[in-house]
Amino acid sequence: MARIGIFFGSNTGKTRKVSKMIKKRFDDDTMADPVNVNRTSAADVAKYQYLIFGTPTLGDGLLPGLSADCESESWEEFLPTLADVDFAGKTVAIFGLGDQVGYAHEFVDAMIELYNFLKERGATIVGAWPTDGYEFDHSEAVVDGKFVGLALDLDNQSALTEQRLDAWLKSIASAFDLNL
Ligand SMILES: Cc1cc2nc3c(=O)[nH]c(=O)nc-3n(C[C@H](O)[C@H](O)[C@H](O)COP(=O)(O)O)c2cc1C
Repeated sequence: MARIGIFFGSNTGKTRKVSKMIKKRFDDDTMADPVNVNRTSAADVAKYQYLIFGTPTLGDGLLPGLSADCESESWEEFLPTLADVDFAGKTVAIFGLGDQVGYAHEFVDAMIELYNFLKERGATIVGAWPTDGYEFDHSEAVVDGKFVGLALDLDNQSALTEQRLDAWLKSIASAFDLNL
């Protein structure tokens, strides 16, 4: 089994695409193929000591799911099913997609939902990311002056995605026991 599990929600496919970009950087022993949270189970998540969770922000600053008018269930419905997973001893990094121009007042807000859920359950959360290089008015996902995970904006800053991923993955490498 791979050491790192990567799970995502996605409405129009961009978060899936980024998940694949991340996986491409690693072999199969290191990272499993990305899994959509609408096609998995809590037991699958619980298998991993190292996890990456990816989410877009949809609706009014929401996780993807039926409340955000997604066609299928997603993080909104899946997250509560993880309530009994023991995250103590697990290391988790979060990335979030958003649109800082169209949604400047709630940029990548949904990351905070994953962050709070994991924090309450004792996970070690790594991968906080500086807000430099983004222009937005407000984000719930900023804690102590940093995003709680990697913020990506494929709507306005697509060309920065690869380099942001490289830098972010380097920043979490030691916590994930990765050689980068
Ligand atoms: C209806 C709708 C609502 C959105 N709301 C937000 C938002 O509140 N904050 C934000 O940063 N981005 C928002 N976005 C932008 C998406 O997060 C962004 O386009 C993302 O890349 C979509 O990812 P996906 O293709 O994986 O679904 C919204 C997009 C749509 C279509």
